[in-house]
Amino acid sequence: MAGGHPCRLRFSRCRFGKHPPYRDPVLPPYNGLMGPDDKICYCYHVSFRKLYHYALRNKLQKASQLSDCLGAGTGCGWCIPVLKRIHEAVQSGRQGPRIDMTPEEYADARQRYIENKEPKNSFD
Ligand code: FES
Repeated sequence: MAGGHPCRLRFSRCRFGKHPPYRDPVLPPYNGLMGPDDKICYCYHVSFRKLYHYALRNKLQKASQLSDCLGAGTGCGWCIPVLKRIHEAVQSGRQGPRIDMTPEEYADARQRYIENKEPKNSFD
């Protein structure tokens, strides 16, 4: 077998005892604030966890490459600042960024962004 351990268990305990149990690197304490399963990109329904793991697995060079994860950031642009923070956290080996808003506040802020036709955020 070429490289790696035969168990191929990435998300549960390795039965050969070679790999430590999987720990989710995404989870900062969030106590009612935006959590790992909350949507970051409302246009394409992409969760925080999905984006974080995509960045982690694919070792992205630029935050804009997160758009390859189900199109995140390619709609209204609201989520781009958060995508940049996720990319930055992954690059520096930290847990996902804590977003100091509840999911409802985040959704409301995005709604206002759309209604007010604010200038579109960009990855630059
Ligand atoms: S919320 Fe992500 S592009 Fe609109």
